Amino acid sequence: MISLHSLLLLFILSFTLGDSQKPKILMYMTSFGYSHFNFDCGIAKWLKEDGYEVHALVPVFPYLPNMTCDAIKATYYFNVPTNVGKAVFGKMKYGVANMVTNGIKSVIAELSYLGCEILFNDKELMKTIKNQNFSIGFAEYMDGCLSIYFSKIGAKSLINLNPTALQYPVYRNLGLFLSPASVPSVDESFSSGDTMNYWQRTWNIYVTFYEEFFYKPMFENVMVHFIAKFFPNQNLSPMDFRKNISLVVTNTNLFLDFAKPSNPKIIHVGGEFVNEPKKLQKTIEEIYSISTDGVVLISFGTLVDTDKATQIFKDSVKAVVKAYPNLQFIWKTNGQKKTTEFEELKNLHLVTWIDQQSILANPKTKLFFTHCGLNSLNEAAVFGVPMIAMPIFGDQHYNSALINKREIGIAISYLTVTPKELFSVFDEILKNPKYSQNSKLLSQKIKNNPLKGKDTFLKWIEFAAKYGNSYELDLGSAGMPRF
Ligand SMILES: *[C@@H]1O[C@H](CO)[C@@H](O)[C@H](O)[C@H]1NC(C)=O
Ligand SMILES: *[C@@H]1O[C@H](CO)[C@@H](O)[C@H](O)[C@H]1NC(C)=O
Ligand SMILES: *[C@@H]1O[C@H](CO)[C@@H](O)[C@H](O)[C@H]1NC(C)=O
Repeated sequence: MISLHSLLLLFILSFTLGDSQKPKILMYMTSFGYSHFNFDCGIAKWLKEDGYEVHALVPVFPYLPNMTCDAIKATYYFNVPTNVGKAVFGKMKYGVANMVTNGIKSVIAELSYLGCEILFNDKELMKTIKNQNFSIGFAEYMDGCLSIYFSKIGAKSLINLNPTALQYPVYRNLGLFLSPASVPSVDESFSSGDTMNYWQRTWNIYVTFYEEFFYKPMFENVMVHFIAKFFPNQNLSPMDFRKNISLVVTNTNLFLDFAKPSNPKIIHVGGEFVNEPKKLQKTIEEIYSISTDGVVLISFGTLVDTDKATQIFKDSVKAVVKAYPNLQFIWKTNGQKKTTEFEELKNLHLVTWIDQQSILANPKTKLFFTHCGLNSLNEAAVFGVPMIAMPIFGDQHYNSALINKREIGIAISYLTVTPKELFSVFDEILKNPKYSQNSKLLSQKIKNNPLKGKDTFLKWIEFAAKYGNSYELDLGSAGMPRF
């Protein structure tokens, strides 16, 4: 009896001791978009499963919903009462790849400054957080003030999360200089990706330098401001903080993203958040059971639905649905125009909620017509489903260029789509076997990747917790000015 008791005690003790050895993590969760938040949350889940205690620091914007993540032990909210973001993001022109030259990054820099000002001035919050003894800080935008905040609260290791492909400044932090003549800008890519013609290269160089000379100083100034305020008279520069980033995690996949010069500190985890497919929900199952030639999934997130889409886009979808009576089409839409303009199409099913992964995993799914957000691209690539990509904004243009590059589908433009064009790309992908063959091969490579991101990531975190940043891996050019 006694021995059983002590055994139990020993068991509990070893459990709690083992747990307390894991360093505590503070994650700044970017809440201005679901794709950002979901990516951060996916990483937090891995950490929790591996025994880490993860707390979150979350800015709350007045115009955005309050997002939550199960893997988080405690959340510290702070309000950013501004409509700056909404005003400008609302003016974005759908279908145009111009996230650098449209000036939106100056808004992000302004938001970053405002958020930092509020965060740093909340002395109560800083005290609470400092008392938690976090040893590792995770954040997307280290170039704002977070690397400074983490240093201030005593976190020794910094991990940079990227829900998109890596942008030039992230490489620069590691001392890597990409050639703008051959590596497409993540925010303003042509559908030709890294096989640009002469004029496209010229534009890409222009865009890269635009970032370097126009935006970089803005983010740099935000950092300089907060360094002066919180580390006065210490002669520290932004690079002194940035060079402490010990790992960079990106949501792209090695076999899908364009090949680029790299560094062991960069970890690709794209596609590794995909779960075992679940059983199809009942309404969807019924659609699959009546399909003879297969199913097509249409989803543009919340951006372009049956209410918000242009008339010519809706007419294009209708034309394709009519042309393939033996295919069933599922359109995920929040729009209300169900009973009016699409009613006559018996093989088009408008649904407001889907489990996208279980649909993509179904072998009867022939094609995915998507806005090409990175999560959607990764999921379709994992399940080997060919795509038609119609990017709406941001990195979606870059992502859809990857589809062209890997020949797992075709990218089209929202600005010029017509019923005739949409029909011809549908026809090409459904009739030419190369798209589904390439998709299946890529799916195999992603599944059998010898450099699985999740395993590497978790091992690296353990290593960083023990030894801090591995400066041995930094190039001498890290922190060097461009000229
Ligand atoms: C957000 O949601 C969480 C969990 O429901 C709640 O505890 C918190 O107070 C909310 N925060 C804000 C700012 O609404
Ligand atoms: C943080 O560390 C201090 C000093 O070691 C300790 O007194 C305190 O209890 C710790 N806080 C937590 C939340 O573990
Ligand atoms: C960078 O990390 C090193 C090692 O942990 C630390 O000594 C240094 O203070 C950090 N630099 C800044 C600016 O936080």
